[in-house]
Amino acid sequence: MSDRPVVAYTRAELAAARSAAISSRERRSGEVAVVMTMGALHDGHTALIQAARARAGVVIVTIFVNPLQFGPNEDLDRYPRTLHTDLRVCAAEGVDVVFAPPGTEVYPGGELQVRVDPGPMGQLLEGEFRPGFFVGVLTVVAKLLHLTQPDLAFFGEKDAQQLALVRRMVTDLNLPVEIVAVPTVREPDGLALSSRNRYLSPAERAAALKLSVALREGSAARRGGPAAVRKAAGAVLEAAGHADPRLQLDYLALVDRESFTEVPADFAGRAILAVAARVGGTRLIDNVAVAFSAQQSPMNPAERA
Ligand code: PAJ
Repeated sequence: MSDRPVVAYTRAELAAARSAAISSRERRSGEVAVVMTMGALHDGHTALIQAARARAGVVIVTIFVNPLQFGPNEDLDRYPRTLHTDLRVCAAEGVDVVFAPPGTEVYPGGELQVRVDPGPMGQLLEGEFRPGFFVGVLTVVAKLLHLTQPDLAFFGEKDAQQLALVRRMVTDLNLPVEIVAVPTVREPDGLALSSRNRYLSPAERAAALKLSVALREGSAARRGGPAAVRKAAGAVLEAAGHADPRLQLDYLALVDRESFTEVPADFAGRAILAVAARVGGTRLIDNVAVAFSAQQSPMNPAERA
């Protein structure tokens, strides 16, 4: 049996395990990477861990279901907690340290007085449908960066707005860490992996699959420009909503990948097509990058001439 990962439950245990891992003679690179998760680990999380393992000498995984990012009517109580299995996954992936703290370790002062303000981007899309969500995410990400002190931190493109906001926080607050993005891992049929997929009945899963179908159809229409992309993706979701009223769309948006504001009709460059919907009682999000070249846009003067 491997002695890894070392499991730290307190900040003091984490600091000791981090130092021990760095000075362990097995490790060639002294760089420390962190992968932050809420547990219920799946192959999406594993992809982040493997990317971290490939870059850094020491890999720390945090497992913490952060109450601050759940709204009053959200699924904090029923969010899956599978620590035992998660530790097995981390052992198989060669993780050095798992930090799995209780709430009191992460929030030692009880109710917070000071929080991270995500700014205007934090009010859009996910922020509009989940008020306070990004305050909770950025506050806990900042805390976990301070506690784990990584050189590199890995985040999934699955949560594209979270990734953009974390990057913005790192820039705006001068945090000394490199943020590394990892592509979305999907089931063979296209459904993006999510800890929440386990809530879905077979019929709900079939409806949920339409999110990724809509993104694919939207992306395939990119030669027609942003309007064509929005139309193609919207048509899939509208038909899916009629076929199964359990699918309730929150938003479909084609946005700039740094500001998360809607891109104009003559946009050239890489945008993000993002979707969020509720399927029965489960809320799901997904997105794809869509590249528009100047020549392809029907608004391009060269093409109109
Ligand atoms: P969680 O939903 O557990 O996700 C942890 C990390 O795994 C995030 O960076 C997320 O983008 C990534 N991830 C999830 N599903 C993925 C998939 N299918 N493919 C690739 N990456 C995927 O995101 C959070 O937790 C929390 O908000 C957290 C950052 C831990 C702060 O509490």
